[in-house]
Amino acid sequence: MRKVMIDCDPGIDDTLALLLAIKAPEIEVVAITTVCGNAPVDIGTQNVIKCLERLDRLDIPIYQGAKQPLKQPFISAQDTHGMDGLGETNIQITSNKTSEAQDAATFLAHTFAQKNDVSVIALGPLTNIALALQINPDMGQHMDRFVSMGGTYKSHGNCSPVAEYNYWCDPDAAAFVFDKLGKQIEMVGLDVTREIVLTPTMIEYCCQMDPDTGGFLRDITRFYVDFHWQQERILGCVINDPLPIAYFIDDDLCQGFTSYTAVETQGISRGQTVVDRYDFWQNAANSTIMTDVDARQFFKKFLTVLLNAQKETIETDLEKLQMG
Ligand code: RIB
Ligand code: CA
Repeated sequence: MRKVMIDCDPGIDDTLALLLAIKAPEIEVVAITTVCGNAPVDIGTQNVIKCLERLDRLDIPIYQGAKQPLKQPFISAQDTHGMDGLGETNIQITSNKTSEAQDAATFLAHTFAQKNDVSVIALGPLTNIALALQINPDMGQHMDRFVSMGGTYKSHGNCSPVAEYNYWCDPDAAAFVFDKLGKQIEMVGLDVTREIVLTPTMIEYCCQMDPDTGGFLRDITRFYVDFHWQQERILGCVINDPLPIAYFIDDDLCQGFTSYTAVETQGISRGQTVVDRYDFWQNAANSTIMTDVDARQFFKKFLTVLLNAQKETIETDLEKLQMG
């Protein structure tokens, strides 16, 4: 089992990503760090606790991180994820689990004080990663892999014409990480995550297959589905964050190219990932930009793990129900 730390801003799709990562047999989630993003960081931490209670995994430590971006005023995405960050479900915490005393950036900086076999999958703004890198400039070289859900190459932005939310929310952190991490950034951006649409048919299928998990998934995505219909006339919801998890487990899932990428930090294109695919600037490549994804393959993995189902059953049903 490969060890991962997940930095996230739960968040509806972050929560689905945590369910996948913690239940997947191929990876071991050794810690979860929270960052301001979809919701204020304390709400994000509460939502991680709700997820760990659901999975009976209160053993996984949580380290709470940044309350606001490095420079920009904090702007959440609670219009999309609900004021509670979990689709206005207002699920109550039942345990006395809390986050650890150490903050996320200090924990991450110390974890990678020397080389180890742990990877980091970042599902939110990169504020914690940037703060940890300021403490420990060698952090990137000491981790195994770094995967980030964020950015976009050719697909339009989701919070400006050109920017994706995670990198728009804290463009200074994103720019710093792309400039200083010193580790290839495997960027799983909107070019591929937009292909991952959880449809009403799939949600109902989950409810039939596993009423408890399906019911939870239906409840937390309802608000998100409504938002997608109102904003983009999509019937369903784009679940961005489970894709980097599935890609980390099976990197054949996505195809892309290596490139030098920089992040704009201000002005009308704040948060834009400027991908120098044709090497105008002659800089060393710092990123792998994902451009293609096998969405059906993703849903096979996602549904098999989430529903504790047989792979063959999911394959047959995906075919028959023409899902994914
Ligand atoms: O732009 C999509 C990303 O921003 C996802 O990670 C979502 O959870 C939000 O953090
Ligand atoms: Ca997220």
